[in-house]
Amino acid sequence: MTGGDVHGDVWARGARDDHAVNVATGGPPDWLRALLRRELDDALAAYPDETAAAEAIAFRHGRDPDEVVLLNGAAQGYALVARVLAPRRPAIVHPQFMEAERVLPGATRVVLGEPFALDGARVPTDADLVVVGNPTNPTGVLHRRADVRALGRTVLVDEAFMDFVPGEPETLAGGDRHGDGAGGDVIVLRSLTKILAVPGLRVGYLLAPPALARRLRNARPAWSVNAPALVVARAAALHPERLAPIVERARRDREALAAALRDLMKVHPGAAANFVLAELPGDGPDALTLATALRQDGIAIRPASTFPGLGSHHVRLTARGGAADARLVQALGRRAVQGTPA
Ligand SMILES: Cc1ncc(COP(=O)(O)O)c(C=O)c1O
Repeated sequence: MTGGDVHGDVWARGARDDHAVNVATGGPPDWLRALLRRELDDALAAYPDETAAAEAIAFRHGRDPDEVVLLNGAAQGYALVARVLAPRRPAIVHPQFMEAERVLPGATRVVLGEPFALDGARVPTDADLVVVGNPTNPTGVLHRRADVRALGRTVLVDEAFMDFVPGEPETLAGGDRHGDGAGGDVIVLRSLTKILAVPGLRVGYLLAPPALARRLRNARPAWSVNAPALVVARAAALHPERLAPIVERARRDREALAAALRDLMKVHPGAAANFVLAELPGDGPDALTLATALRQDGIAIRPASTFPGLGSHHVRLTARGGAADARLVQALGRRAVQGTPA
């Protein structure tokens, strides 16, 4: 392992306990596997038709189907928005998932300090696109929807982890029906990767006002979203109650892990997703050294030092519950706190 600027899945390769990737624990749910098995023959035999999935997603969020753009994972939304909007002065609110930096090179970084609360006054007045995560990866902070709306210009809000927030009080997926903001289109990016633990399926969507949604939809390559992905997207939207046990488990595991870690290191309060942002003791090994050492224990963690605004000792730890978290806490105590990194 050579650096910290890699996605969690690279750290996770070959590890027994994966606390680096932040998809939900337990793999794809049984109902999803059964559904795919049942639908696979039909799904493979015809070109994908997005109609039913778009209608179901629109219904779930109280939008019109023409405001829905199916995506080959939320990552495709970043690429589309950058290409179609071609903003002159984009701004990215950090710390934040790094895909925005990749598709918007040269964007202004708005780096929030602890406790990483959104501060619209820090965004340059001439920014014509603002990218913000809600809840944010890697801080776990949930911003108020009113604060996101108050940014007042075109906003890309990455809600890839919003499904983990019970009741989703701060989502903007439903559009501006509460009328608590002014000005600017809001593009809401959603992913099924995290909540359903399906990173290989590649399925997400965005929600935007109809004219903008049409431009973004038409900019995709043909058949961007495969038919099995559409089957899953439709079912997840029609049955949000099926997500509830995943959400509840993630909450329980995260709270227990955060509580256990507090004896060892600083744990940041962001508590809206399935991971914990922590800061290793300053007199111990840094995050990269520690992550490399933990691989000897079969444990993968995500050094967070490469996220703008975080330092050499920040780590993002996905809560897995039970024995896996117990092994993590024990190994951290040994290697991070007692100072035996190797
Ligand atoms: C905040 C955030 N947004 C989007 C993505 C990409 O999700 P998808 O797998 O749907 O492309 C990730 C994946 O790491 C993420 O962490």
